[in-house]
Amino acid sequence: MARNTYEVDEELETGFDIEKLKRISIYLKPYKKTIFWILFLMATSSIATMFIPIIFMEAMNSAIPQKDMSQIVRLGIDILAISIYVSIVLKIRSRVMTKMGQNIIYEIRKDIFTHIQNLPFSYFDSRPHGKIQVRVVNYVNNLSDLLSTGLVNVLTEAGSIVFIVCFMLYIDVKFTIISMIGLPVLIFIICIINSKQRKAWQKASNKQSNLNAYISESINGIRITQSFVREEENMKIFNRLSGNYRDSWMQAVKYNFLLGPIVENISAFSTSFIYVLSVYLIINDKTMLTAGAIVAFTSYIGRFWAPINTIVSFYNTILTSLSYLERIFETIDEPIEIKDKEDAKDMPKIDGNVVFDKVCFSYEEGAYVLKDISFEVKSGQSFAIVGPTGAGKTTIVNLLSRFYNINSGHIYIDGIDIENVTIKSLRKQMGVMMQESFIFSGTIMDNIRYGNKDATDEEVIRASKTVCAHDFIMQMENGYNTVVKERGAGLSTGQKQLISFARALLANPKILILDEATSSIDTETEIALQEGLKKLLQNRTSFIIAHRLSTIKNSDCILYVDKGQIVEKGSHNELIAKKGAYYKLYMSQYEFLK
Ligand code: GTP
Ligand code: MG
Repeated sequence: MARNTYEVDEELETGFDIEKLKRISIYLKPYKKTIFWILFLMATSSIATMFIPIIFMEAMNSAIPQKDMSQIVRLGIDILAISIYVSIVLKIRSRVMTKMGQNIIYEIRKDIFTHIQNLPFSYFDSRPHGKIQVRVVNYVNNLSDLLSTGLVNVLTEAGSIVFIVCFMLYIDVKFTIISMIGLPVLIFIICIINSKQRKAWQKASNKQSNLNAYISESINGIRITQSFVREEENMKIFNRLSGNYRDSWMQAVKYNFLLGPIVENISAFSTSFIYVLSVYLIINDKTMLTAGAIVAFTSYIGRFWAPINTIVSFYNTILTSLSYLERIFETIDEPIEIKDKEDAKDMPKIDGNVVFDKVCFSYEEGAYVLKDISFEVKSGQSFAIVGPTGAGKTTIVNLLSRFYNINSGHIYIDGIDIENVTIKSLRKQMGVMMQESFIFSGTIMDNIRYGNKDATDEEVIRASKTVCAHDFIMQMENGYNTVVKERGAGLSTGQKQLISFARALLANPKILILDEATSSIDTETEIALQEGLKKLLQNRTSFIIAHRLSTIKNSDCILYVDKGQIVEKGSHNELIAKKGAYYKLYMSQYEFLK
């Protein structure tokens, strides 16, 4: 059974790869010096704390038995000084590392967003937008622990383990070896749960992604949800996805909770064992160790296991972060299928001759949407494309902007194959008004200026007047400075179309593409608009897609497509005379109007 995309866990295209973690070092590189200094400070503070048990040992072995107050005070001051130094270092580390972590997160987020902006339409067509969002926002955020504290902590702790072992060896070699017997046990347990734990975190990140996809889809479709009273049904889906996320998280975190107590137990067991053993040895006079040395040594055991505990819990952070890093790098590595050829040149100033030469195209392998499309449009001509829903009209114009790669054939503009020019230079010279007009949050002025940020206010107003948008804009609260919300809430569909129309026009393109530009505009406005446009379209090649034939009647050439193939081509009069598909369509609309 086909399931909704938000129910399907994303398969990882690549398996577990420790290289992913190494890749993070690219982002760490600029901070090499900072990391070095922080590590240095942490090492010094770590060494300083190592002296505390020695100080205690001295107090117990000499200062207290000899009742030497001045030595006790001196030792007390030493401990105080060490504590102050450690707290200062910790403060510096937190501040510097948090800043560094956030800067790196900023860089990763920038890279992923930059990359997403260049990904082809097909990438967005094939996955829920919520799943893309979750990578840019949540997954990147989740790296914060790893970068801010984790990496430095683990290095410092690993270093401190070395120092602690040195101090322990200094006191007694045999005891040191005995107290580490628990270590292989821990390593064995980690090896057993490692892969389960990693999979559990991958699953949790998948469930989070699914939930996000559903929330995003639900918010986008809220009007339909409410009008069809689907709230209850949606609540059930939401509860299921949210429950899945909770359960997978709990399952993953269970492993995290497992290791901490194991380390604690091993540590406690080693300490008590050493206590019992040493007391036994002291009573039986089998050791030279003093009571002070035993206290110091057992304190080192605690200190030996504490960093191991930190490293083990950091290991959890690594596994969690790895499941996010895999997704982040997968997105950054997503190939940009539509990119400039290595020797691509800028498109020279377009004149506007367009040729489609035996173009075949499919969105999905094998299922051809366009078959053998060939036509020619002369510079300055208006070219209309009509045909039933799903015929392939939008697809034809999308190919002209190179939003998809064609399977075979060629598209030429002024004799230059558009595959050989840079995409930017091509798209910059085209004005596209898409079938779904999209309004960004911001002022109306900014929305119209979207494709030509240097246009003056006068130019914006002139374009708006041409498309008959000026009047309704002026009636709005603040005219052109009225702020419209996301997706143009507060505007009618027709008004949104007019704004998108003005936007396409303002780019002053040599090739203008209008996909159902006026489908939601009343007939009266459309007639007024046609007059203004006639003059404007004179020096441009225009592609006009319309179901309403009155819109395209006067075009220089009309292409009738059906099922991805050209059925007829000619002027309105020629096609009417032909009495074919166009004639039938025209008559049906004409009859309808009668
Ligand atoms: P209307 O706008 O409804 O008049 O149709 P159109 O003539 O513009 O059709 P369009 O070019 O959008 O679509 C042509 C065919 O391609 C249809 O059968 C669609 O199902 C299919 N199609 C469109 N977009 C996609 C896509 O992103 N992925 C896939 N797999 N198929 C698509
Ligand atoms: Mg369409």
